[in-house]
Amino acid sequence: MSGIQKIGLFDSGLGGLTVLRALNKILPGVPKVYYGDTLHLPYGDKSDAAIIGYSTAIVQFLKDEGCQLIVIACNSASAAAGKALVEQFPELTFINVIDPVVDYLAALPPQKVGLLGTRATVRSGAYSQKLAAKNSEVELHALATPLLVPLIEDGFLGTGIDASVLAHYLKDPAMKGITSLVPGCTHYPLLEEAAASILSGVHWVDAPSIVAQAVAKHWTGEHSEGNAFYLSDRTDNFLRLAEKTFGIDAQWELVRLED
Ligand code: DGL
Repeated sequence: MSGIQKIGLFDSGLGGLTVLRALNKILPGVPKVYYGDTLHLPYGDKSDAAIIGYSTAIVQFLKDEGCQLIVIACNSASAAAGKALVEQFPELTFINVIDPVVDYLAALPPQKVGLLGTRATVRSGAYSQKLAAKNSEVELHALATPLLVPLIEDGFLGTGIDASVLAHYLKDPAMKGITSLVPGCTHYPLLEEAAASILSGVHWVDAPSIVAQAVAKHWTGEHSEGNAFYLSDRTDNFLRLAEKTFGIDAQWELVRLED
């Protein structure tokens, strides 16, 4: 493909920054625009219709900003709105955060893999269906873990409370005997350390890097500008965490979108 000027990424909040961080390592000089829809956070507990509405308005905004490659840096939006966005914006290239990880899983030897996600992602069955379509012998067990996003967005990373809640979820029978674990929400890669303190011998899938590699394959544009950051609601907590966790002390511009 040709003519891509900027890469647009969006998520309900901080989560997509794990994908942006991985992408900045592979394509450091490529202009990227990030939109965090903090006004509507969390997406994981919303209906598909609501997530489609928010996502459509954001993609229109990113398109107007000159983005031609859009990374749906949110599993909930990838699951609930991915198809609708591709249909509504045929002129754009979309990379969702589910397909590259499914491709990765499909290439693994047969084993039991756990997946933690939001309610929206788990109820969609997207990972299992896509994996089954690839005739993979990987057995996927998905578990909705809705407390994790509010914990992360509220700054509980590294407090021990994050590890306690994660440990509680990982005791679920669905997670018994897993040999790999997928953080099926873009916020969850931030829990890698907490997970390592609970699970031993379980491979933590580096979903952001896998997605970033898929994005890099599509990039044909210039390497020139920096990143631009937008929010639908400005909260001190979000700005503090973006700086503390991701080292982003850029100007976050407030842009409210109609959905
Ligand atoms: N980070 C998002 C995801 O990957 C959304 C989390 C949320 O807002 O519930 O699903």
